[in-house]
Amino acid sequence: MSFPQTRLRRLRQNATLRDMLGSSPLRREELIAPLFVREGQAIHDEIPSMPGVYQHSVDTAMETVRQWSDLGIVAVLLFGIPDRKDAVGSEAWNDRAAVQRLIREIKKSLPNMLVVTDVCLCEYTEHGHCGVLRAASGGRQDVDNDATLELLAKTALSHASAGADIVAPSAMMDGQIQAIRSALDGGDFQATAIMSYAVKFASCLYGPFRDAAGSTPQFGDLRSYQMDFRSPRQAAQEAAADLAEGADILMVKPAGAYLDIIADIRRRFDAPLAAYQVSGEYSAIRAAASLGYLDERRAVIELTSAIKRAGADLIITYFAQQLAQWL
Ligand code: PBG
Ligand code: ZN
Repeated sequence: MSFPQTRLRRLRQNATLRDMLGSSPLRREELIAPLFVREGQAIHDEIPSMPGVYQHSVDTAMETVRQWSDLGIVAVLLFGIPDRKDAVGSEAWNDRAAVQRLIREIKKSLPNMLVVTDVCLCEYTEHGHCGVLRAASGGRQDVDNDATLELLAKTALSHASAGADIVAPSAMMDGQIQAIRSALDGGDFQATAIMSYAVKFASCLYGPFRDAAGSTPQFGDLRSYQMDFRSPRQAAQEAAADLAEGADILMVKPAGAYLDIIADIRRRFDAPLAAYQVSGEYSAIRAAASLGYLDERRAVIELTSAIKRAGADLIITYFAQQLAQWL
């Protein structure tokens, strides 16, 4: 039975009643702020396709995390950019690399800041794929799923031993959650949680990120291991498989164009759900706002609120700093 709009409008004329009756608004505590960290010192380089987002060295990253903490941001998602890339991405599990050092610094001076780390090899491999390659038929190369599992597990273990609270594998290899869970448990990191990029679509909206991380694939694309946006039914299967393997938090990515998927996963599973408003979503809104075509603040609040309304508990967004100031 529908409730007459005229009555709702009457109630909403009273500001107190409007707040009391409104559904819960987006909160700062639900945001996760991504951060790119590289080797070196005093680096604070703006990413051309993502104005307002920077590549940092550990020192300037730390200043930024402190500012974010002062603004009420409670969680960060770290991405590393190595100086040296190689065929297997070995800087990913180097205990003295930028990500690992930054985790230690954050945990030393801001122990309550929740540290989430992206676990993937595409930022670390010279070919830009999320795993190691092997020769396939016809002189081609493809990603060796099982050989990659071991490297992802080593990377996750390296992050956990530096102090990461949550590791977030994004390589989309089959069995990666289980491989990482058993490596963590074996290393006495039972308390380290896994946030799975369970439902990750092959998307053009990652374009600016690859610019930011210098991880554009040198050949081919990632469609063999990321999901096809034309087959939504695969989403629930991927999420169920990751939960069975031990995922603690599920993630849908991208977010804004996949609200149906977020709502569907929310309905089917009880697990905490994160959604990633990715680089292309950020850049599109920024670009329109900088041309004066959109009111940035209103657009960002409206679009991220929609992600929450669809069912996300946590929102990963490059707008976290602005949102923390606006909310
Ligand atoms: C690494 C990874 C990517 C993103 C998050 N983790 C790139 C990709 O899958 O190509 C994209 C994030 C963004 O676009 O903001 N696998
Ligand atoms: Zn990757």
